[in-house]
Amino acid sequence: IQKLELLYEGKAKKVYKTNHSKQYIVTYKDDATAFNGEKKGTVLNKGVVNNQMSAILFQLLEEMGIENHFIQLLNDREMLVKSVEIIPLEVIIRNVSAGSMAKRLGLEEGIPLISSVLEFSYKNDELGDPLINDDHIEILGLATKKEVEIIKYTSLKINEILQQFFITKSLKLIDLKLEFGRYEDKVILADEISPDNCRLWDLKTNEKMDKDRFRRDLGNVEETYQEVLKRLNK
Ligand code: C5P
Repeated sequence: IQKLELLYEGKAKKVYKTNHSKQYIVTYKDDATAFNGEKKGTVLNKGVVNNQMSAILFQLLEEMGIENHFIQLLNDREMLVKSVEIIPLEVIIRNVSAGSMAKRLGLEEGIPLISSVLEFSYKNDELGDPLINDDHIEILGLATKKEVEIIKYTSLKINEILQQFFITKSLKLIDLKLEFGRYEDKVILADEISPDNCRLWDLKTNEKMDKDRFRRDLGNVEETYQEVLKRLNK
């Protein structure tokens, strides 16, 4: 497979076209941003961890019947994926109060939710990824009603699978952000699943083992990303 021109560069990843029209190459960078790009930095080897962790989780999900864009790992920072057309929605699923929801609703962080909460944000940097609902998705024409139903159902199923899996690795899945894309005539899971877009707390100590270490200057950022990957590989 040959890497051709850069198609898209995001904050943490680059996407390249390839000589195969239905396959892209994703390169994971060490760049880290937070608060919609206001805070910038690098986390040494974050790209390696996120690439490998995403590969592990995409393969697990595929085995559990969740189709996704992952095809294969190419090297420590790159994976081959299906050429999905990303739907500009961030799907957030929460199991425990934290982050922006805790702030918005005046909740303490760390309160288990009686049922999982699903939120949509409009993926739009200029607008700061505003929270939206099904009606906003409809009027903006971001996805069809049927696609929204598939996305909701699939996201909750992914959350169930990952919650169970992380417990076996001594990690608690507090919340996560998913993105979906159109491929052939289907809507499939895309983007990445890593400490950049999941909140993971140590099962016993509740220590934060995710990007909040970078966002909140908690220290040991590199070491924590490595530790998460190490646990997944055990
Ligand atoms: O900040 P907030 O509490 O809304 O984040 C919820 C979850 O979504 C967290 O796991 C966070 O890492 C992820 N997220 C993300 N990209 C964003 C916003 C949030 O991956 N732009």
